[in-house]
Amino acid sequence: MAELVIKNLHVNVDDNEILKGVNLAVNSGEVHAIMGPNGTGKSTLAYALMGHPKYEVTQGEATLDGTNLLDLAPNERSALGLFLAFQYPVAVPGVSVANFLRTALNAHRKVDDPEDKGISIPDFRKKLKEKLALLEMDESFAGRYLNDGFSGGEKKRIEILQMATLEPKFSILDETDSGLDIDALKIVSDGVNATRGKQQGILVITHYQRILNYIKPDFVHVMLHGRIAQSGGPELALQLEEEGYEWLREKYPA
Ligand SMILES: Nc1ncnc2c1ncn2[C@@H]1O[C@H](COP(=O)(O)OP(=O)(O)OP(=O)(O)O)[C@@H](O)[C@H]1O
Ligand SMILES: [Mg+2]
Repeated sequence: MAELVIKNLHVNVDDNEILKGVNLAVNSGEVHAIMGPNGTGKSTLAYALMGHPKYEVTQGEATLDGTNLLDLAPNERSALGLFLAFQYPVAVPGVSVANFLRTALNAHRKVDDPEDKGISIPDFRKKLKEKLALLEMDESFAGRYLNDGFSGGEKKRIEILQMATLEPKFSILDETDSGLDIDALKIVSDGVNATRGKQQGILVITHYQRILNYIKPDFVHVMLHGRIAQSGGPELALQLEEEGYEWLREKYPA
């Protein structure tokens, strides 16, 4: 039984067709990696799945557990259990990390139970403390404004803090590894793996094989010219590291 199913997905940005028929199925418990040269549509796929209004789906299907994602607003997709860790997280001055996470968590709880009064402050503090510890982050981050003045690596860690707190069913990690130092990469990967058992699937978008040593993929796909051009096992990532993309560009000219 496949959990995330993408069929013949075409996506336009400002009337330019970026995705030209993406097919992908991620079964329960699987981790899939998506690699591919700059500008081939990896983030476009992530945004389109999450419902970014600029990314217009012109054809195709995307379902999570059989529910059509494409009819839903981004917050409804989130409530359904879909999560996106951004390639470029945005700063939200005025909104603290703690407030942001508690509001998101409570919004999810309200979908499950409209009568829900929200997580109690002590319970939330306990949870946040535990997740900050998991990602080896200082507790002072909870009181800071979201991503405001955060270093590149801190922003990436905060994305995974969100994932660990919201405990989604399915996560898309868009270049979470870029900007992380060598130790942080291991800590963040351990954080992802700690939530892995609870997740049905994870899509890891990356340029480098290194993160895949920690978050082990079942399948690796290469996106080229808005399509998945090649799929394989973890060995495909190693081959790309050795040989680059030229052989694929020759095999699949634009
Ligand atoms: N408004 C726009 N008009 C024209 N092209 C656009 C627009 N927005 C995005 N694109 C193009 O869509 C393509 C896909 O971008 P996307 O961010 O999905 O690439 P990516 O595979 O994630 O690349 P990277 O590895 O660099 O993150 C790029 O060529 C980008 O320039
Ligand atoms: Mg990208």
